[in-house]
Amino acid sequence: MLSVRRFSMCVLRSLRLHLKKIAVILLAVQLLFITVYVQNRHLSITDGNWKSFTTPFFQSPTDTTKNDTYATFDLRSKDSVTRLYDKMNFDTSGEWIDTYTLKNNLLTMKMGSDKGQVLDSVDELRYYDNDPRLVWSVVLDHLLASDSNDYAFSWYDWANFDSLNKLIALKDTNISCQFLCEGAFDKNVMQRVENEVQEPLFVTNRNKYDEPLWYNRARKGFDSNSVQQIVNDHCKSNDAYSNGTPFELPFVISEIYEKLRPEVYDLHARNHLLYSNTTPLSLTVLNSDKDAYRIDLKKTDSSKSNIVQSNLLQDYMQRHRKEMVNGDLIFNHTSIFEKFLRHKSTKKRKLDIAGLDKTIFAKEYLDLSPSDFCFDVKAKIAELETRLRSESLSLHDTCYLQSLQTSIRTAPALQKKYFAEASDVTDATADGHHRDKRFFSIGHNLLNDPQEFEARLSSLIRTFQKFTKANGLISWLSHGTLYGYLYDGLKFPWDVDHDLQMPIKHLHYLSQYFNQSLILEDPREGNGRYLLDVGSSITVRVHGNGENNIDARFIDIDSGIYIDITGLSVSSDAAKQYMSKFVEEEESSEKTFPALIDDYDYDENDNFDEVDGREDLAKYTINELKEWVDSHPDDFTNAESSQVTKTYKKELHISGGDSPEKGLSPKQRYLVNEKYNLYNCRNQHFSSLKILSPLRNTMFNGVSAFVPNRPITSLNNEYKVPPKYGFLTFQGRVYLPEFRYWFSFADMKKFGNLQLREPKITRLESPLNDLKFSDIKLLLTNIVQCDFHSIFASLFNSFDSTIYRLKELEIQYDLRLSEEEKSHLLGMLRHGMSKNIKSPEKDPIIYIYERKLWEHVEKLLNASVLYNIASKVENDKIKAFVELSQKVFERNLESFQLLDRDNNDAVIDLNSKGLNLFGDNKKTSNDIFGSDQKY
Ligand SMILES: *[C@@H]1O[C@H](CO)[C@@H](O)[C@H](O)[C@H]1NC(C)=O
Ligand SMILES: *[C@@H]1O[C@H](CO)[C@@H](O)[C@H](O)[C@H]1NC(C)=O
Ligand SMILES: *[C@@H]1O[C@H](CO)[C@@H](O)[C@H](O)[C@H]1NC(C)=O
Ligand SMILES: *[C@@H]1O[C@H](CO)[C@@H](O)[C@H](O)[C@H]1NC(C)=O
Ligand SMILES: *[C@@H]1O[C@H](CO)[C@@H](O)[C@H](O)[C@H]1NC(C)=O
Repeated sequence: MLSVRRFSMCVLRSLRLHLKKIAVILLAVQLLFITVYVQNRHLSITDGNWKSFTTPFFQSPTDTTKNDTYATFDLRSKDSVTRLYDKMNFDTSGEWIDTYTLKNNLLTMKMGSDKGQVLDSVDELRYYDNDPRLVWSVVLDHLLASDSNDYAFSWYDWANFDSLNKLIALKDTNISCQFLCEGAFDKNVMQRVENEVQEPLFVTNRNKYDEPLWYNRARKGFDSNSVQQIVNDHCKSNDAYSNGTPFELPFVISEIYEKLRPEVYDLHARNHLLYSNTTPLSLTVLNSDKDAYRIDLKKTDSSKSNIVQSNLLQDYMQRHRKEMVNGDLIFNHTSIFEKFLRHKSTKKRKLDIAGLDKTIFAKEYLDLSPSDFCFDVKAKIAELETRLRSESLSLHDTCYLQSLQTSIRTAPALQKKYFAEASDVTDATADGHHRDKRFFSIGHNLLNDPQEFEARLSSLIRTFQKFTKANGLISWLSHGTLYGYLYDGLKFPWDVDHDLQMPIKHLHYLSQYFNQSLILEDPREGNGRYLLDVGSSITVRVHGNGENNIDARFIDIDSGIYIDITGLSVSSDAAKQYMSKFVEEEESSEKTFPALIDDYDYDENDNFDEVDGREDLAKYTINELKEWVDSHPDDFTNAESSQVTKTYKKELHISGGDSPEKGLSPKQRYLVNEKYNLYNCRNQHFSSLKILSPLRNTMFNGVSAFVPNRPITSLNNEYKVPPKYGFLTFQGRVYLPEFRYWFSFADMKKFGNLQLREPKITRLESPLNDLKFSDIKLLLTNIVQCDFHSIFASLFNSFDSTIYRLKELEIQYDLRLSEEEKSHLLGMLRHGMSKNIKSPEKDPIIYIYERKLWEHVEKLLNASVLYNIASKVENDKIKAFVELSQKVFERNLESFQLLDRDNNDAVIDLNSKGLNLFGDNKKTSNDIFGSDQKY
């Protein structure tokens, strides 16, 4: 099982590399390559036994007799185990499976020699599991009780420290800096740690350490001198640590060293985070997607202000002592959250940002204007400086003002890279290139469990979209994210991040009000918590030395996974050749774009905002800067002058390139781009007002989102979108419209038993591009039988999202419908269905919580019992999926019968509206993506 998953993840990773770097071509070929590349791998099919997902190490025999300390319900009863399996895989709501209580969750020791013991008081706690229910309850209750704004942030309460807790919990085993500064763990130390805590130190690939060959290879090259050097440079002893000091480790990682295996990096980086001085400026709390509230944070030593160290927990218990029953107390975070929302002091926290319109998602369209793509930095600085003289600025405003002042002095050729990725982590499957360096973590089993991975990515985008909607911020799906959306309203399964664009004006709103804020999802809906981080050279709008292509990131603090956000604006970068046809179309002129430029009589006295606002070296053109650097060699480092030379050469290149703007000066290019509404990000992806505007309101990943007015055009500027909607193949992936899902072909061969290698699996006889309705059931059954449980869960949970997109496509691309009819039907679909779309993935924190319970169950119950429980749950879901598909097939799905708000709420059946892409998906006439449609 494991090997199968890992195999498909490898395929995934190599695919993604290609996808990211190259403009890839989606090939709508028929099934030719099925017979081509045949793997010799053979899958063993589960034979009435449950295959444990993770390797059980500490399966001590006592585990089966001890009463479990993990849940408030009986983990041996079939009913509760059934409920757990069902909830863990198919319930994507924000609901918890049990109730957080003082005794069971907080005071019962989950590891170490005192495992199972219940502490007498919270004063005895030396560590605790991060649980949103505890933190929300205590922090919000504190704010309401004190009616003040003096909450001191601690990473320990808002990020996950499960892995580091295993080291914090140690009483007898000595660990030193060295343990976290070697490329792979020292097995002897690791075993001492594990023996003491009675838990594996980590789950992902833990069994590798038991293979001598692997271990020796992983440890090769760590001589004591080089390790000592790393220790000296990156780690220091912790004075606060003395025997038994709670929440402390004997050493502090002062700076992250990256060339480590993922499991070492995890503990190393978590230690660094725990003791980090850099904390968020504020918390931003979401009330669903409706409103956002601001909690300011007091500056203190974040490593010493968790809710126990700061007494917030003790105060909480004091206030709630009357609710105690037998010394136990329930922490009902949703009830406190609702109290918080209703409380009068909360009104003052509500964010209503002048200039932003919270109703933008109410309509089907959103018109953008050219002014959204320009930003007057000088005016903004002047405004903030004036305010600073008359009143004190908020922390956010102060940080933003300082950032602008620095940025306007930053020459594009000399900008320093702002974001740091964990690129040097020494295992390719950890994908350090796509993880923030500070927050990198392997989670529970992130590298081997696609369900955990997808849950993180889904929570990330859902929280971001709710955040933008609650504040009226404008952004839209772009690049690979938009491409994935096109087919099924989800990202491509092989994509490891999300890409969004915003107009520069809104990037500035984002910076001023949310840079360095920790954005928190409504705890009734999920437990997303993400750091919004905007780069330090926001006023640089050209490519320059190419160090800062990404403007901002929305970062998962428990994995380092992020959304890439780029701002679009008018700049002096030379427009790409592909923009010519849009300008010509737009101008409806016989003339080519270069001819139009020749005719354009620009006034050299026009504003050149890009440079006018700048100071120091940033005022110079690259040619002037080059001259300056050449004549003042002592003022610049070698690296700086070579950056300048590199940027200078790029500028020379423009004159020889194919840009319609070649031969123009930077200022002239700026003026041409401005005149023709051509906008670009710092990675020189160009778009235009008419391609983007009006933005279309739609659903992505089950939440509201905007997409460009002309998505196909926008994508074709970067990729080559095949015209067909239907059966598709794409480098080892197959899209089956019957499931609205991209399967890995390697997996498909197994669960379709296409090579007749699986004696127990019914072979799929129909060609993949010509499935019969009955094949849906057959394939689902096989998927589950072949142990692809996470794929089945994904299919099942994304049904609502993908079926929504299907109906949207059927309406948008039906040539028989007029623009008005389409708009009317799309509005009905959105208003009628959007509220009820189930999240396509689990909340990651709830998922891991349940996953751990399940791993515990795996130790308590035998494999055949578990197999039967899982089968029963999954068979019910297969049945439900097939029934729903049948309704879609017959165009009889209840959720498409919607009220017509324009017509006295008469019911209109959307089933019969639009194309029939589900029933007729084999038709070649489904070439709907040949060009953009008006709707
Ligand atoms: C386990 O729990 C059951 C019922 O809650 C109780 O009767 C039994 O004594 C407990 N066993 C141990 C070893 O604590
Ligand atoms: C741990 O280190 C301390 C100080 O170096 C030492 O006194 C103690 O004996 C060590 N304990 C073990 C179990 O090695
Ligand atoms: C927590 O509070 C909510 C809202 O008041 C309520 O619906 C729920 O039943 C409570 N949960 C528990 C476990 O008491
Ligand atoms: C965002 O915050 C970081 C950290 O304080 C700062 O370096 C950066 O300049 C800020 N960016 C903006 C646009 O304010
Ligand atoms: C598993 O447990 C069931 C029910 O308790 C029992 O009937 C079965 O024999 C057990 N199977 C194995 C392989 O131990």
